[in-house]
Amino acid sequence: MSFPESFLTELTARSDIVEVVSSYVRLSKKSGSNLFGLCPFHSEKTPSFSVSPDKQIYHCFGCGKGGGVINFIMEIENLSFPEAVEFLARRANMPVPEQENDRESKKRSRMLALNRDAARFFYEQLSAPGGAPARDYMKRRQIGRAAATNFGLGYAPDTWDALRSAMKAKGYTDFELFDAGLVRRGKSGGFYDTFRKRLMFPVIDVRGSVIGFSGRILGDGEPKYMNSPETLTFNKSRNLFALNLAKKSKSGYIILSEGNIDVVSLHQAGFDSAVASLGTSLTPEQARLISRYTGEVIIAYDNDGAGVKAAQRAIGILEKLELKVRVLRLEGAKDPDEYIKLKGPEAFRKLLEGSEDQIDYRLRSITDKYVLSEPDQKVAFLKEATDLLARLPGAVERQVYAMRVAEMAGVKGEAVADEVERRRKRILSAAQKREERTKNSPEHQLQPEEKSFRYEDPASAAAEEGLVRLIYLEPALAAEPTLPEPEEFTAPVLAHIYRVLLDKARRGDSLSTATLGGELSGQEMSLLVQLLQKPERLSGGKTALQDYIARIKDARDEKNGRQDLIAYMKKQREKMGIEE
Ligand code: GTP
Ligand code: MN
Repeated sequence: MSFPESFLTELTARSDIVEVVSSYVRLSKKSGSNLFGLCPFHSEKTPSFSVSPDKQIYHCFGCGKGGGVINFIMEIENLSFPEAVEFLARRANMPVPEQENDRESKKRSRMLALNRDAARFFYEQLSAPGGAPARDYMKRRQIGRAAATNFGLGYAPDTWDALRSAMKAKGYTDFELFDAGLVRRGKSGGFYDTFRKRLMFPVIDVRGSVIGFSGRILGDGEPKYMNSPETLTFNKSRNLFALNLAKKSKSGYIILSEGNIDVVSLHQAGFDSAVASLGTSLTPEQARLISRYTGEVIIAYDNDGAGVKAAQRAIGILEKLELKVRVLRLEGAKDPDEYIKLKGPEAFRKLLEGSEDQIDYRLRSITDKYVLSEPDQKVAFLKEATDLLARLPGAVERQVYAMRVAEMAGVKGEAVADEVERRRKRILSAAQKREERTKNSPEHQLQPEEKSFRYEDPASAAAEEGLVRLIYLEPALAAEPTLPEPEEFTAPVLAHIYRVLLDKARRGDSLSTATLGGELSGQEMSLLVQLLQKPERLSGGKTALQDYIARIKDARDEKNGRQDLIAYMKKQREKMGIEE
């Protein structure tokens, strides 16, 4: 990414991390110079999110996320690196210098142009003679012309290369089409259209760019939906279908449903704030995105076991962002689309107005399981209900609902309230113990917090971490001739961070979370910040360096030695004719 270094330095100097973080997290002083608060990126009861005013970094000892002020904004506002830079520049009242259009962003804008042209092509096919099957299907599903225009729906024809040849005529190459997920590669090396004979839903982000597609089969068959793969522009877990439309709604809430068809049907019936996650269960990133546009979410998932489970998961994620959550009970229909078709928009509006808040909803799901006139079932009901209430963060809420539960079961209010508080204390202390236990286990301390970064060779990786830390803190050491090559590292993630640091340091660039933000992924940045938490012997930097290099070499020799020994033993066995 190509903001001038001087600009980034000035920007971070004017964006004090404590001030920026404080507008999202309540921080308090705990020990030393660091400030602590409840981590905004995972759920916890005791603060393990730390901010260092001296180093201008944050780090969560619980989930491992960390970085500088720009990373924090990227993570919490769900922005790319340049977007986060712009965000902070606006806050600090600084003009943003023109970015040189580097290769990555050129590729990105070209892909967006291709997606837009593809969407237009699909849209045109809907009215072409060949589009009859799609038009028939839409008629059957009662999707009108206006909805098609509103969503930019389209038709992918029933041929192998309709889109491909149309796009090639516009000057796009097979490889551009391939990178955008619009064509696939056959066994013989030729390319063919990914989407064929499908009703096409373009996925449009909040800025109005077509970032990918979702295609539904016309009728029954498998797979029902096909989505664009992850591309430079398409990330399923960070976008929502129809948020580009829903964000303009005046309703004051967002309706979260499961299916694309549900969304189209809801908008068509006048509920213009409906969105759907893109075939995954709701992710924290999607929830954060929603919270930028509304304070209230109404969940309208399918009326089946999977829908109820998904709703429960979504409630947990949304609650963490302090969004008000309500859940619809679509009695007598399998999904919002069917509900509206069967009972009409007015009935759905009534449902919206009377929808339960999430505690009522969960309490009701528990009540439904038991026959309260049976004494043993009543006990089981009380147990499960008090457990639910014990997890509510608000004391008043716990009290109010305890009374309600008591009434349902026909027992004394105080008895239930006391039991809820007792249970809450137990849950909190168990959670705290669990957190401490995992934090202190030796295995946990050797491994990076990000699970996908497990080290294969912890001994070598510890020394590799040390080298990375040293170079970051003491960039002059990058000139040492004895340094190993990144390829000699055993941990690929450390090798990549090390390579980026070496390149920058050798060019004489400064190393900071701001200047590295464009080149390291969020996970890599978190890992780097995690490494920086460990102490380093800076006074004897060169000695420390040689020590790490020796340890990496030792680990390698030991591994080679083990392999040599194994090979030697094998040979001996063969010589003696021993079968393995
Ligand atoms: P209808 O059955 O026509 O009402 O479709 P729907 O849009 O309501 O979809 P459904 O409720 O079956 O599924 C919910 C969402 O999950 C869809 O909108 C898709 O995003 C996703 N989905 C469903 N089936 C598939 C599939 O086979 N593959 C993939 N990748 N996603 C799917
Ligand atoms: Mn459906």
